[in-house]
This record gives sequence, C-alpha cells and structure tokens, in this order.
Amino acid sequence: MARRRIIAGNWKMNKTPSEAVALCNELKDLVKNDAVDVVYCVPAIDIVPVVEAVKGTNVHVGAENFYIVDNGAFTGEISAPMLKDAGVEYIIIGHSERRDIFGENDILINQKVKKAFASGLTPILCCGESLALRKADTYKEWIERQITWDLDGVTADQVKKLVIAYEPIWAIGTGETATADQAEEVCGLIRSLIAKLYDQATADEVRIQYGGSMNAGNAAELLSKPNIDGGLIGGASLKPDFGKIVNA
Ligand code: PGA
Repeated sequence: MARRRIIAGNWKMNKTPSEAVALCNELKDLVKNDAVDVVYCVPAIDIVPVVEAVKGTNVHVGAENFYIVDNGAFTGEISAPMLKDAGVEYIIIGHSERRDIFGENDILINQKVKKAFASGLTPILCCGESLALRKADTYKEWIERQITWDLDGVTADQVKKLVIAYEPIWAIGTGETATADQAEEVCGLIRSLIAKLYDQATADEVRIQYGGSMNAGNAAELLSKPNIDGGLIGGASLKPDFGKIVNA
C-alpha cells in the first residue's frame, strides 16, 4: 500500500521566536509539495508564532516535548492539551537526546505515547542504537526491545496513525549517515516487528522515518527504500536545504 511520505524537521533548541518566524518565511515556497506531509517540530516558545506563520501553507506544526499530566504542579512543563490548543498536531517522543541527557526511560516514553494519542496528537516515536551497540552487533535486539516497551498497551488502530523514527545515535548531528541499506535494514525490521506485535495491515500503514544527518545530498537515496517513508531532520531542517529534502 502507498504510505504518504512525511518529512519532519526537528529544530531542537534552536531559533528564538523571531528567528523562527523568519525561518518559516524563508522556507515557505521551498517546502511546497502536496504529496508530502511537512512538519516543523519546534521549541515550546516558538509554537504560537510558528503556528501563526505557517497558516495557509502546507506545513504542520509539532512539539519536541511534553509531560503526561493535563495540568497542575509540574513547574516548567507543558501539557498535551496546551499543545493541542495551540495548534500542534505532532509530538516527538523518545528522542535519544531526551533519553540520554534528560534520563527519559521506556516506561515514561510509553506513557507519553499513550497520552499523546488520548489527547489527539500524533507521536513521532524515536528509537535507535549507540555506536557501541552497533559495533557489538546487538542493535537489532535493542531496537526491538525499545519499540516493544514503548508500544505496550497501544492499540493497532493507534499504531496505524503512528510515526516511528529510526535514528542511529552515531549518525545524529555527526555528519555520518547510515547507508541507505543500513537504514532500510532497520526500518524493515521495525515493520516486521509491528506485524508480529499487531498484524500485517497495521505494519503496512505505520510510517517509518530515517533520521541522522539526512541532507539534500543523501535524502533521495534513503527515501527510495521501500520501508523508509520519510525523514526526521535536525541540522538540515534549519536551512533552505530542507526544501530539497521535502522535494527529493
Ligand atoms: P541531525 O538530527 O539531522 O542533525 O543528525 C536528527 C535528529 O536528531 O532528529
């Protein structure tokens, strides 16, 4: 079945609100493509101005983080209903930077996936192995374990709407991209796992992205692979190059 391509920018902790609006304006004509879902996942403080700046364009807005409770005494956090009310549609969950720098584990990540769905947000669930696990040749087991834990109690109907991003940690921000064959191997493995955990129809619908130094030069080859339905892009999402990836 034909899955719709999804190209998402992960702006990380970059761009002040006024810089964010300027970037939206700069990219506006470059990211036009009606055959692709285009998403900007932006810092919390940029959400309101970015939603305004992309009005009337083909760009959807995502957030980079949230907490699993709707409101209350959680200093510094933002909730899913706040994101939803602001116009956010997608939410990155389980990014390796959240896992490694902020100590998020699979129990919390699983709660976040369920809460996102319950709140009407589409999760972009990230997984990926370290260089040590890649070298030890245990990366397949690692990815399967992450996805199995993170989707505990998530229904097949929800998984059909889910986006999974395979992001080998050794390729993030390093300029070192997984080869298209390496990326395809793991994205195919993830799809087979979804078929095993759910059923083939669910596996055929779930969209799987590759992330890790995807750029204008390597996007077309990565995106030509049968199990790679899109990209989650960090560094190159902040430049006009992002338009080339959208249209690769
Ligand atoms: P990168 O980041 O494209 O800069 O490697 C990808 C990501 O972390 O989502």
